[in-house]
Amino acid sequence: MVNLTINNKKIQVPEGTTILAAAAQAGIKIPTLCYLKEINEIGACRVCVVEVEGKETLVASCNTAVEEGMVVYTNSYKAQHARRMNVQLILSEHDAHCASCLRSGNCTLQSVANDLNIGDVPFGEKYEQNEWSQDFPLIRDASKCIKCMRCVQICDKVQELKIWDVINTGKRTSVGVSGRKQITESDCAVCGQCITHCPVGALHERDDIDKLMDAVHDPEKIVVVQIAPAVRSA
Ligand code: FES
Repeated sequence: MVNLTINNKKIQVPEGTTILAAAAQAGIKIPTLCYLKEINEIGACRVCVVEVEGKETLVASCNTAVEEGMVVYTNSYKAQHARRMNVQLILSEHDAHCASCLRSGNCTLQSVANDLNIGDVPFGEKYEQNEWSQDFPLIRDASKCIKCMRCVQICDKVQELKIWDVINTGKRTSVGVSGRKQITESDCAVCGQCITHCPVGALHERDDIDKLMDAVHDPEKIVVVQIAPAVRSA
């Protein structure tokens, strides 16, 4: 067991536990956005950052393991300031016209921003645009994608289809169809797992999906695809 202190609360957790999980055990909630337990622990969004005594830089609590004697502050000025700025930066690349978004009211980014009382974004706003086949039942809206990579991981690790992949690098990093194919050329089975686990409104079904499914699906493909139960973030 490992002994540590979070927000002046002494706790004991098994070795290998993340700071996020240790905090949850102590009844302390740390906001998360990209994290999906055991599926997406890549520390992409930095919304869960916390301050650890003795460390110069903040750490992502979702993928940092506890250490003996660690002293953690989840809501220090430094942690709150960075968390707020990280959410503002994400919002600067996200089309936040929530009123017309299908996920409004069920959007993790919207709820995290509301909890942090973020209204205006003090950065220039720039959204990625993409062309997408409107003939396909699954629609991807790049202007809403926050590059959390949940869709990439769920499709790969759970569905084992690997339809989505990371494309480009650096500030041009984005998500696209593996092999830079069109979605209509891929083996996407329209299982819906990427839609379920997208924390925002970047992926959704076409409104008339029921009518389309018969036309698009090869019935045999539906049989072989493993539909995993929805996994929610902790
Ligand atoms: Fe930890 Fe995104 S939730 S980095």
